[in-house]
Amino acid sequence: MNSAQLPTAAPGTERDSVLHSWCVQSDWDAPTIVGGAGARLFTADGRSILDMSSLAECSNLGHQHPALVAAIREQAGQLCFVTNAWGAEPRARLAQRLLDKSGFEGGRVFFTLGGADANEHAVKFARLASGNSGGWIITRERSYHGASYAAMALSGDVRTGAQIDLAALHVQHVPPPYAYRCPFGTDTDEACGLAAARHIAGVIEQRGSHSIAAVMMEPNAGTNGIVAPDSFWPAVRRVTRERHVLLIADEVMSGFGRCGEWFSWQRYGEEGRPDLMTLAKGLTGAHLPLGAVVLSGAIARALESQLLATGLTYCGHPLCCAAGIAAIESYERERLIERSRRLGAELLARLRRMQARHGVIGDVRGGHGLFAVIELVRDRHTRAPLAPWDQRSPLLSALLVQGLRAGVAFAARGNLILLAPPLVIEERELAEALDLLDRLIGTLEQRLATDTASALR
Ligand SMILES: Cc1ncc(COP(=O)(O)O)c(C=O)c1O
Repeated sequence: MNSAQLPTAAPGTERDSVLHSWCVQSDWDAPTIVGGAGARLFTADGRSILDMSSLAECSNLGHQHPALVAAIREQAGQLCFVTNAWGAEPRARLAQRLLDKSGFEGGRVFFTLGGADANEHAVKFARLASGNSGGWIITRERSYHGASYAAMALSGDVRTGAQIDLAALHVQHVPPPYAYRCPFGTDTDEACGLAAARHIAGVIEQRGSHSIAAVMMEPNAGTNGIVAPDSFWPAVRRVTRERHVLLIADEVMSGFGRCGEWFSWQRYGEEGRPDLMTLAKGLTGAHLPLGAVVLSGAIARALESQLLATGLTYCGHPLCCAAGIAAIESYERERLIERSRRLGAELLARLRRMQARHGVIGDVRGGHGLFAVIELVRDRHTRAPLAPWDQRSPLLSALLVQGLRAGVAFAARGNLILLAPPLVIEERELAEALDLLDRLIGTLEQRLATDTASALR
């Protein structure tokens, strides 16, 4: 084929050239984005889209935050890169800020490129520190910890789990504290959280605590739609502490204000403090890729005198660390953690009012900040889901398309709508998006009724 015969895509589009993640290639039909400001993205064809998911729940600071753009420019003018075997001033400053914010006295920070490798490294450190290189890791069904190989095993996600041999990687999944459909048959949120923690205690005892390297979980909200009841995390902490098992908090999504705190375990004070926590997403508000593992003083001491045979070329990249420092300063200056808590409470109240009007909304749950989940059902009484949580619902896909046409990007998964707008979203924008969602759910409900009636005919 000579160049004259090559297929030509429209300039600037990636329709035929890029292998896209989490989709069927032939279905890919997403807008091309050329800019952004606040909670809005601008498309190549001149439209503005209000972002109700912070893209992948990562743009907590909104798009093109001026302080982040300036910090990246300034750092680029001085030093773009130095290997992490040597020192870099922004890396040192960011590590100190993270230790101060989390209160891990005497701890250390290991920088990664994103969330999946932060989780994989947290597992390595837990195994090294516990002296048990093959120690089992307990994680939850319906959790998400990333899509690299070991992270797929850690994730309790049926979409990626089929590609992995859990037992070979010494990962065991346990049922989640999913109060709306409690796997333990309890009838209150609190009881479901406690039963899930008791189950973990049982698994530790059954295997023997010496054979477990760590328990890794999201303390509060997760992108697979589970929001743990408040009883859960402190109980998991008690269970693990009493059995001398390390606890890793995956704060990749829930950190940096998403759940109303810097790190969601802080809601429970010292009672909720994990041994390690992993970060990414909000760490730079996605302005540059960066992840981190924050280790307690005790774990840092355990690793102090042994060779740490791990690391990736770009770990702790100075440009990304400069963005991380600017992000922390922006969260502080704009009081975004408090804002997330306040707007999150308003979001939840508004969704509950919607639930009272729409029978298709089975459950509404929120993560104490700007994160909420709407669970759609065919029948509120039987709680039959609109679609299995790991499959696409044509009705929900239609809702997303209608939303985008009306200028608002919502995120959905199976029978769930996830709401996680940038923490800088204006109140007026949030109200407009929810007005639209209310109408779209009304339309979905009518279509569901029509489909059900014709199926019965
Ligand atoms: C809780 C959690 N952990 C880990 C990850 C993986 O992060 P990354 O995509 O940066 O590898 C995600 C991403 O969605 C997440 O939500």
